[in-house]
Amino acid sequence: KRLGILLSGRGSNFLAIAKNIREGKLSGCEIAVVISNKTDAPGLASAQELGLKAVAVEAKGRKRAEHDAEIVATLREHDIDLVILAGYMRLLSPDFVRAFPNAILNIHPSLLPAFPGLDAQTQAFDYGAKVAGCTVHFVDEELDHGVIILQKVVPVLDTDDAHALAERILEQEHIAYSEAIGRVLSGRYRIDGRRYLSAG
Ligand code: GRF
Repeated sequence: KRLGILLSGRGSNFLAIAKNIREGKLSGCEIAVVISNKTDAPGLASAQELGLKAVAVEAKGRKRAEHDAEIVATLREHDIDLVILAGYMRLLSPDFVRAFPNAILNIHPSLLPAFPGLDAQTQAFDYGAKVAGCTVHFVDEELDHGVIILQKVVPVLDTDDAHALAERILEQEHIAYSEAIGRVLSGRYRIDGRRYLSAG
């Protein structure tokens, strides 16, 4: 299967996925294209260094529907089966979501539905939560909302600051995303309402 990665920044989740594919820990797929809405995203430069197809579709000054249509077209050109949002900092338009039904995944650095939106790790830290974590979910038209595929939990320690907590969560993100992609690609699941259930 062909993965299309969308990112806006550092790209550590993308790199973890690329490494897992390279090392055979995530099989049956390849990264066919990496797309960034920011020309200067470090993740896009990393993709180039790895010899992957890397495309910038600059969002600045354009209407969302128009920008998204160009991204959808680029994904189609590359015959993408599964779209992976990896630190992609834009809400997808309804047309984009509908173009890839149950085939867009996102990772969010909290145990959803707690702390959606920006700076989720700091939100959890400031709230005084005793556990935190990350969530991989299908993307729907609402922010950080679609059906949950898997979650990883980490403790919040008394000695933490928000940065230390974010690091602990990120370590789990790098494991969780490949695991979730593997599960979805296997096709051995069904969705019952909001519940993702393994099948077969
Ligand atoms: C991660 O914390 C991810 O959960 C969130 O954005 C961040 C992206 O980090 N959606 P990176 O660019 O993958 O390093």
